[in-house]
Amino acid sequence: MFEKEKFSSLLKTKIFGKNIFCFDTIDSTNTQAKMLAEKGTEEGTIVIADEQTHGRGRFSRSWISAKEKNLTFSIILRPKISLERIGLLPFIFATAIAKTLRKYYTVEAETKWPNDILLNGKKLCGMLLESSFHNENVDYIIVGIGLNVNQETFTDELAQTATSLFPETQKEWDREKLLSQILLQIENEYFFFCENETNDILSQWKSYSTMFGKEISMSQNGDVLNGIAIDVSPDGELLVNVNNKLVKFNSADVTLIRH
Ligand code: BTN
Repeated sequence: MFEKEKFSSLLKTKIFGKNIFCFDTIDSTNTQAKMLAEKGTEEGTIVIADEQTHGRGRFSRSWISAKEKNLTFSIILRPKISLERIGLLPFIFATAIAKTLRKYYTVEAETKWPNDILLNGKKLCGMLLESSFHNENVDYIIVGIGLNVNQETFTDELAQTATSLFPETQKEWDREKLLSQILLQIENEYFFFCENETNDILSQWKSYSTMFGKEISMSQNGDVLNGIAIDVSPDGELLVNVNNKLVKFNSADVTLIRH
């Protein structure tokens, strides 16, 4: 079971995790965090669950995670930033998580556009951001993170594409300690980004990615396009060379093609 007391005692953040809601089983931490945010719950509130019955992923997919093995959590954010900068938020969270794994554990986590973290070519972590706006301003953003930690096996369907820290590192991970380190890193990166229009978040994120220069397959609204990943624009769009034309994507499902 995720130990809330232990987690709180390890947490060195200033704002993130001042309020912690911990559940054995819940439908989705994002749904719960949204309900709390609608009631005015403050920025930095964390919702954690040991099991989600309706964990949600991008493109209306479900997020399946073994009970009491992984980290499934959501953070309520109320960023005071211009709307144009909202699209850069996923890069902050992905960078912070990859950095934590690299810095404390020498785990070579990689970033994959837009929201994923890979380990040895398989998906280790996914993120779902959900926003609410009021009069052209951000009211709240929920960032929901699913990080596979101690899950030993995956269903046949996922085995080729998903992984967790346990099989890749051959050790059992301390979930409370890992989450406390991740949240500290996210908090630092997030407030730095909110307070500084000039920052190097995209170049940090890119330095953790190996997708550039490689062939990728982009699936968007049922269409599939192949091309070479070239770069990320200053607004966070993916720039892809498709038949010698530079095409910008702001939302798509990307698969790296391995020959
Ligand atoms: C994706 O890669 O499709 C995004 C997955 C996001 C899953 C997390 S788990 C915690 C939070 N609650 C949810 O229902 N979804 C996110």
